[in-house]
Amino acid sequence: MNLLFGPENSPEAQPRLYRDLADWYPLLTPAGDYVEEAAFYQRLFVTHCRRPPRTLLDLGSGGGHNAAHLSATLACTLVDIAPAMLEVSRRLNPGCEHVQGDMRSIRLGRVFDCVLVHDAVCYMASRADLQSTMATAFEHTAPGGVALFQPDFVAETFEPGTETGGSDVGSRGLRFLEWRWIPESSHETYVTDMAYMLRSEGGAVEVIHDRHLMGLFPRTVWLESIAAAGFEPLAVPFEHNSSSDTGHEVFLGMRPVPGERG
Ligand SMILES: C[S@@+](CC[C@H](N)C(=O)[O-])C[C@H]1O[C@@H](n2cnc3c(N)ncnc32)[C@H](O)[C@@H]1O
Repeated sequence: MNLLFGPENSPEAQPRLYRDLADWYPLLTPAGDYVEEAAFYQRLFVTHCRRPPRTLLDLGSGGGHNAAHLSATLACTLVDIAPAMLEVSRRLNPGCEHVQGDMRSIRLGRVFDCVLVHDAVCYMASRADLQSTMATAFEHTAPGGVALFQPDFVAETFEPGTETGGSDVGSRGLRFLEWRWIPESSHETYVTDMAYMLRSEGGAVEVIHDRHLMGLFPRTVWLESIAAAGFEPLAVPFEHNSSSDTGHEVFLGMRPVPGERG
């Protein structure tokens, strides 16, 4: 029994943001904010994919906010564990394929030129789960293709702290406070406590607390896990206006072409 959450893998262990509050997700982090970041991932795919990058699998695709931009040049298949998030993404990305599944275990039986495991990879809260996700990514990456993993933090860069934000759509509005911290009892995890203020059309405001449990692993664990899955690992600096100087990195896994390794 996890004292900070519910029993592991119970519905209660999943943040409400991805269940009954999913319709608020586009106000928390609007898709328009992802233009620059998606362009950065697109450049990495073009640079590191040793085959023409035409198809993308996004594991933990959430609201589909990266896919909304990447789908301009890539045929996107979006996988998420939460049906409510897939519904939100379908509205934004009607031209993309959506599949419900767990990034630790899903097997689609086909390969893609590029695999993206964006911030959803932070929900891998143990090394075993992280390794399972890497294995899923490898199974779905074509020879010569590339997988990209983007944790919010590695152990070396984590800083407890707070962020605020939110947006309005018509008369609905959301504002949030995000509070990151490491409980004493944690082992390679941190907690993000979120407070949402949700203003509905009539003007009523509800305040909700929602806890997220995230994995926190040393940089070497990321690189070793990518290699253990069968990829050639590479870390590249995360280039983004607001965070280019923070030491954040993107982890890549290049799937070797048989006969060409070494
Ligand atoms: C912050 S959202 C991702 C947002 C996404 N990067 C985007 O571009 O919109 C995190 C998502 O990870 C999903 N998730 C968490 N654990 C998962 C798992 N084991 N397998 C698949 N999806 C998972 C959640 O349901 C949620 O939709």
